[in-house]
Amino acid sequence: MRNSVTEKRIVLIIGGGIAAYKCLDLIRRLKERQIRVRAVRTRAGQQFVTPLSVGALSNEPVFTDLFDLDAEREIGHIRLSREADLIVVAPATADLIAKMAGGHADDLASTVLMATDKPVLVAPAMNPRMWLHPATRRNVAELTADGIRVLAPAAGEMAERGEAGVGRLPEVPELVATIEDMLARAGGGKLQAAGEAGKGRLAGLHVLVTSGPTHEPIDPVRYIANRSSGKQGHAVAAAAARAGARVTLVSGPVAIADPAGVDVVHVETAAQMLDAVRNALPADVGIFAAAVADWRVANAGREKIKKTAAARTPSLSLVENPDILKTIAASGAHRPGLVIGFAAETERVTDYAAKKLKAKGADWIVANDVSPESGVMGGDRNSVHLVSADGIESWPELSKTEVATRLIERIADKLAAGRSEAAQ
Ligand SMILES: Cc1cc2nc3c(=O)[nH]c(=O)nc-3n(C[C@H](O)[C@H](O)[C@H](O)COP(=O)(O)O)c2cc1C
Repeated sequence: MRNSVTEKRIVLIIGGGIAAYKCLDLIRRLKERQIRVRAVRTRAGQQFVTPLSVGALSNEPVFTDLFDLDAEREIGHIRLSREADLIVVAPATADLIAKMAGGHADDLASTVLMATDKPVLVAPAMNPRMWLHPATRRNVAELTADGIRVLAPAAGEMAERGEAGVGRLPEVPELVATIEDMLARAGGGKLQAAGEAGKGRLAGLHVLVTSGPTHEPIDPVRYIANRSSGKQGHAVAAAAARAGARVTLVSGPVAIADPAGVDVVHVETAAQMLDAVRNALPADVGIFAAAVADWRVANAGREKIKKTAAARTPSLSLVENPDILKTIAASGAHRPGLVIGFAAETERVTDYAAKKLKAKGADWIVANDVSPESGVMGGDRNSVHLVSADGIESWPELSKTEVATRLIERIADKLAAGRSEAAQ
């Protein structure tokens, strides 16, 4: 069941670039997160995406024309810009960025942008030469000075053959993460209601979070890995930051963006993760959501192992990796006040989680079913059981952001209860 209380609204302005097709996926991902999307296509944007696909995905009318009498009567351009919690321009063309910097208001998109009193996020996408052009550099600097958040475009191949460089639209997961973060910070809105109870409740505390998989090298080019995406751990780090904590996130190799407002330490192996965690201590709360590889290859090759006709298939001998959760839970004076582990199981989820709680010396275990049919690994939703000495609490299926927000609220409750006990 989705929670209508968590709904927020954005206006998405779609400029006239090839990357406009990515907006369709962006709209889907935002809708999955209960974010309402009203789309405005620029005149050039109309050439790249149809109102049918945008409207079908957003389930809202699609706006284009400033002088459309019906649309203006139904919801005028001022209301369109004011009713949103955030205005997102994606893809932002060189032309649209120039118009914004110059304060033009000669079509619906630019008028909405001029009339708004809400935060604005700009996600540029253009040919690398256009991005590096002094006029674009100047215009981007103007927007940033005006308080508009401009994302750095990504590097890579362009749609035009043989063209590569910086200018690609940031990937959809990065756009979604930034939009969620800006909505959460915007305040006064409904999405905030889910996290409102926790807002500021972890102020002054240091929360350490691990996330993602680890990669254990076989040789310099090959490695053993697992399917963890880091989405849940990153969501927990973002929620802790929203609750006012200073957050250190130790992340294995993931394809998602660093959460905003969080100190991120990127590592590859389990041994590096343990080192980074130790370096980050002391912490008030440790949340170990990473899917740390249990084993590594005993003698990882320094050179690439060659496949030769003469050589037999190499056999890998594995040794156990350090158990980060257990090590930190038993670290005496350095132990965080509250140690929370994540358990990924494919069967008897709560049984194994209860055993893990004791075996690891953790205070809580968040257990999730990661069997392939659950879709949890890499997916956006999760159904978890919170296992503690007090018993097992099973939560309904929620988005990973909602799981994170709830967990942070529980942590804030626990710490507040501990403080009031100590005061008595
Ligand atoms: C096939 C095609 C692809 C284009 N892709 C881009 C692009 O990725 N980025 C960009 O800044 N302009 C691009 N343009 C140029 C813009 O469409 C043009 O500058 C237009 O006036 C932008 O209008 P708008 O910013 O109001 O959407 C492209 C044009 C064509 C014909």
